[in-house]
Parts: sequence; structure tokens; C-alpha cells
Amino acid sequence: MASISSRDFVVSVVPAGEKSCRLEVTPQKNTDSGADVLPSLDEETGREKSEPELSGVPEKFLVELNGEPIAEFADLGQGFPSWGRGNPDDSGEWLNFDHLVGEGSRVYGLGEKTRYLEKSGAVYEMWNRDTGGFYTHNEDPLYSSIPFYLVKTAEGDSRAAPFLGVYVHQSEKTQFNVKARSDLSRIGVALNSSEVTVYLFAGASPKEVISNYTRLTGKPFFPPRWAIGYHHSEYGKPCNQEEAVELAKTFREKEIPCDALYFDIQHMEGHRDFTWDEGGFSDPEKLLDRLAELGFHAVNIVDPGIKAESGYEVYNSGLDVDAYVKNDKGEDFLGAVWPGFCVFPDFLRENVRDWWATQNEKILDQGVDGIWNDMNEPAIFFGRQQIEDLVRELDDKLAGGDHLNLKERQRLVNISEANTRSMVHRTDGGQEIGHAKFHNLYALYEAMATWKAFKRENPNKRPFILTRAGFSGIQKYAAKWTGDNSSTWEHMELSIYMSLNLGLSGVPFVGSDVGGFDGDVEPELLARWNQLGSVIPFFRNHSGLDTTSQEPWAFGERYEKIIRKYINLRYRLLPFLYTEFFRAHRTGVPIARPLFLEFPGDEESYSVSDQFMVGDSMLVAPVVERGAKRRTVYLPPDENGRETSWLDWWSNENLSNGYHRVEAPLDLMPIFVREGKGVPVADPTRHAGEYPNKLKIKANTGAGRDVDVKVPVYDDDGESDEFTKGNYFYGVLHIHAGRDKPELEVKHDGYEPFWDEVEVI
Ligand code: GLC
Repeated sequence: MASISSRDFVVSVVPAGEKSCRLEVTPQKNTDSGADVLPSLDEETGREKSEPELSGVPEKFLVELNGEPIAEFADLGQGFPSWGRGNPDDSGEWLNFDHLVGEGSRVYGLGEKTRYLEKSGAVYEMWNRDTGGFYTHNEDPLYSSIPFYLVKTAEGDSRAAPFLGVYVHQSEKTQFNVKARSDLSRIGVALNSSEVTVYLFAGASPKEVISNYTRLTGKPFFPPRWAIGYHHSEYGKPCNQEEAVELAKTFREKEIPCDALYFDIQHMEGHRDFTWDEGGFSDPEKLLDRLAELGFHAVNIVDPGIKAESGYEVYNSGLDVDAYVKNDKGEDFLGAVWPGFCVFPDFLRENVRDWWATQNEKILDQGVDGIWNDMNEPAIFFGRQQIEDLVRELDDKLAGGDHLNLKERQRLVNISEANTRSMVHRTDGGQEIGHAKFHNLYALYEAMATWKAFKRENPNKRPFILTRAGFSGIQKYAAKWTGDNSSTWEHMELSIYMSLNLGLSGVPFVGSDVGGFDGDVEPELLARWNQLGSVIPFFRNHSGLDTTSQEPWAFGERYEKIIRKYINLRYRLLPFLYTEFFRAHRTGVPIARPLFLEFPGDEESYSVSDQFMVGDSMLVAPVVERGAKRRTVYLPPDENGRETSWLDWWSNENLSNGYHRVEAPLDLMPIFVREGKGVPVADPTRHAGEYPNKLKIKANTGAGRDVDVKVPVYDDDGESDEFTKGNYFYGVLHIHAGRDKPELEVKHDGYEPFWDEVEVI
């Protein structure tokens, strides 16, 4: 370990794998920072570690790994930085430093962030937050915090590897100041802590960086096959079991594939978790059986707020194990959410996670297949203590003849920001932890508890958890959706950038509310958004209360036909997507990828933000503009910068690389297959539990160039952990131009794949 010290800090650099290292910044005066509440990381051990070299003065220091410079930092200091976009109420110590980057660098990642694909030109904050309504195009922060960014180094910057990943492994509120590209010579990092651990990942390619980052924070979970089908959800519907069965039957009658129906808070008795409203859902087991017969999986919403009501079994059982977060007076913290005043499980403690797993197990036992963790920032409409304290304080002031100043009046408006501030958590050892340190981790620990419920219910079954909030590592447990968006074209476009950046930040199983949550969707937007959804890893149509219905058939035959075509496309793509989910689980490399991930040598690919790759073979160019009938697409040259071809998915024509203006009438989303690649597809089925007997390969053998194509295919039983014991199939189909029979090279033969015939398209 090399270390240097400045007036105030000791900086140590420790190798953490072949191409990664850990930078530890600790204050010289030993301040007690409290217990470590962060989840453990999978640091590589047993590897021969080379001693890194650290040079320069502490105010500016260059980090070297294996003799190579990888990053330079400067201006390490204490205090809130001048650029800080802070809330004046943020108290405690702040530590800040600059990461020096060459001008012209490009910055991506940072998890769930709005704005554009490239992150330059804004300050981003890490603080899990529900906006209390739908969010705007520039809103920040949002529901989850992933303090990880990826830098594409500027040409000629000798201080850095070609690609660098930076992960700030600290749970407190953190800010990243990414200047406009024209002025991007440093990235400011500030955090509400007195110490910090930063991991640096040097890579020759962006994939290598993401792979190493997810090696540390955890590889994405491998979902059951049904979870990658189409999901249908609406706040307010179904509001009784007859309606639920009707909805499921309508999908089958209309021959629109669907795998999951969601039960939002309307299914509960007065919004109490783990209950069913007796009036509408008198026999949940029977309902869930009926849905299963129809080939549907049920996903139930679970909010962390437990109604504080004596006699409510869940509440009482939590009291028995002292499960709830305290306030600063040592009482159970009370905050209002959907059911009225609630208490909140303290997921930091193992025994509380055990108790929570037991609560979840009850609904899994009834036949619920997936759990949707919402409001887990945690979102609180208003806190009892905050309201009472504030009212008392302001009342005293007014009664004393004083006026309320602007800040005080704003506090009334911003009361929700302060809601969780007085929460106090406890570690397993009984040490008290202020909420600021645990806030961003709350949902991650909830997901761990929910995961435990699934594993207890059936140790061999793969869980499905959907979460709104999260932190680095959430990919090990849950799929992530981007919360309460709007039914607007801007939000549809925004969802592409948000999903791609979440993927670059280690969370591949992502998607937005297809059709938009807030506001009334227009039919054209619903059609276009379903097109986009059909190729995004998490494909769920979800809409808000009292908004226009967004069912595929909501706007008549014309739109229904288009939406059916794309939901069918999703099911056609299942063999491909399933293979890609398996690969993401193994490598951490996202499924939906910005072009530069596949073509890092192509400068143009860094600027294209409204197109993306699915896996390494398929390029999609969704239409995000009202009334558009055609659009411009950019088709990159091959990975060596040479001329190549792209196969048009629909017309089977081969296009050369470069810019093209292509037809995109309302029923067509442009899709292309890369030269030398193929996409395994199958005829659509009603749901992912049904399999046709033929596998088809859409391959691009390169018009006239006779390029050989290799197509990886994965298959297993679709639901169990048997694959971890080797019970899966993995093979590569070799397609030689001009020959219609592909050769199958079996790489792993632990399962009989679903097809008995392969056809090349
Ligand atoms: C939150 C969720 C939304 C859900 C609603 C009611 O707003 O983000 O998806 O429908 O709560 O539970």
C-alpha cells in the first residue's frame, strides 16, 4: 500500500485486481465516522498484486497502476464546494476533490440521471428521491444512486487509460460536477462525509471497465424467462379479481402475448402491505391459480411503509421484533404514505430483513410470482415530527410578532425533503446510524430482504423483484424501472438515455413505464413507445391513476395491430434476449448499449444518442418524434473502421455503413443486423413458458462478401437455479454464406434446448 499525506488527509492507493485500484482518503485527525453500513464488495483476492506507484504532491496526485498512469486528482479539500448545488440544510462535513480529465473527454453513466446520453454540462446529485409527482426532463436527483461514471479519455491525454471507470464507494449524499464539454477539464466530486473510498477501473475498452466494476459490486441477477416477456400494469386496475381474469383473457383472445399482470396498491385493504381488499379480492389463491392457468404471473406491489395501526398483524409482528426505524427521540419514526401514518422497517439489521422476508413469504406462498418494491427511497409524504416541530416553531415566531422569511416559507413547501432527516437506524451490533448514511442504501437492503423471501419460499427458483430506488449493487437483486415519467414524446426519448446510462452503470435489467405514467397518452405515442419497449430489457406498460387506459387495444384496431406486432416481436426475440440476459449475468455488460460500447474506435458513435445496440448484433433506431414517417440512422463501420453492411430487419436489404434516411411509417421501427452477426429468433408464443420447436436465425452474411456468422444461443429450464449446476445449453451456430444448413458447435451440453430444427433466414 502506498500512502502520502497532506495537511489534512492521508491518501492510500491499493491495487484491487489487475486493472483496478482503490483510493482511500481519510482525514489525518481521526474522526469517528461510525460503523460501516455499506454492503460488502467482491474484491479480488489471491491475485498477485503489484505495488502501485503514487507520485506528485498531495494537492495534485497522479495514480499509477503497474507503472502506467491511470488518473490524476487535485484540490482535495474539506467543505462544501463553490459549485455545490446543495440544500442549505445539508449539514455535517463535506469532502471534495477534482478528477482531472483531458479537455474533450466524454462522461457517461452516473446511473439514473435525466438530461442527455452524455452527462456533460450539469451537476448530478446522489440522493434517492421521489419528486412527489412526475419528473421533468432536467430533474435531479431521482430515485436511485449509482455513484459510478465512465470516462472516454480525450485524445492525447497521457495521464489516463483510454477508458476509466470511477466508483465512489460511499453512501452519503454525493455530487458530481461534470462541466460542459467545451470546458471539461475536471470532474468535481463532493460528498457529505469526512472520508471516501474511490475505486478506479482502467480499461482498453468500455466493456472491460463495466465488467470490472460489476465484478466488484456484483454481477446482475439472472431473471426467470417470464420476466423478460411483456408485462402489463396500471395504477387503479384491476380493482377486483373478475377484472383481473377478464384482462388476462382479453390478452389471450386478442392474441397479444403477455407474461405478467401487476397488482398496484388498489388490491390492498386500505393500502396495507401483504393484504388483499376483501371486497374485490376475496379469494386471492383462486385468482392466482386462474391466472397461472392462463399463463400469467402475478407481481404485487409492496411499499416499505407499514400502517401504524394496532391490530394490523404485520405492524404488530414488527413491534415484536423492534423492527422499525426510530426518530431522534428514540420512538418509532412516523411518516405518512398511502395508508396514512406508517412505520418503516430498519432494513439495516439482519433480524429485520428476516422478519421482512417472512412477511413477503406469505404472499409468495399464496402464488404471487414477483414483488414490486415501490416508494423505497423511502418516499414519505410528510413526517409527523417534522410537521409538528415546524408548526410549533413557525407558530411561536408569528405569535411573537415576527414575519416568516422566504426560507421559512420555503421549508413548508420543501417539507418532504426534510422528512427522513430525523430517522435513526441501528446496526446488528446496536450502534445508532443517522439516516444520511443509510438513506441511499435503504432500497438495496430491502431488496436483499425480499430476495431472501424468494429463496426461503423456494431455494431453487429464480426471484423477480422490481425496484424503484437502489444503489450500486442493486443489479444483484432487482430489475429497475425509471419511476413516474410522463406520457410525452420527450419522456420517451429521455427513457432511452436513462436506460442506457443505467446499463453502463451496471444495471442491465431496466426500462421505463411504456406509454408514460402521468397524463393521457396519445395513440401514436403509445404505438411508438411499445416499439421501443419491445427491445428494451424491461418491457412493462404502466400508467397512472385516472389517466387514459394504455392497454394495447385502447385506441382501436389500427393501433392495436401495430402494438401486437411489436409485442410479438418481443416474443420472437426471446431466444436472443434470453441469451443476452445470460451473458449480462456473466459479464455485467449491458443488454441495451450505446453504439460506442460496440464501436469504441468510431468517433461518431459517441454522439449518437437516439439509437442503440441490443447485444452486439442488433441496432435499433426508435422513432421518438410525433408524425415522423422516416428518420435518419447512423450505421457504424466495422470495429476496425472498415466498410461494412447492415441488414434491414424488415426488407432484408443490405445497407452500407454511414448515414441513411430510412422509411419509418407508424408500423415500423428501423432495426438492423450487424455484418457477421445473427439474431436467434422463434415464432411468438402466448407467453414465455411456451416454446415453438424451431429456432430461426436472422443473419447478416454481408451482401456479396460471404462473411461467416457466429450466433451464440443459450437455453435452460427458464426458472430454476439448475443452470448454476451446469444444467444449461450454450452453443454457437456457425452460418456459412451460401449454405443453408448451419453447424452447431456445442459449448456446454447440460440441457436439451427447446428447438429440434434450425432455419436460417
Ligand atoms: C408510485 C409509483 C407508481 C405507482 C404508484 C401507486 O407513484 O411510482 O408506479 O403506480 O406509486 O402505487
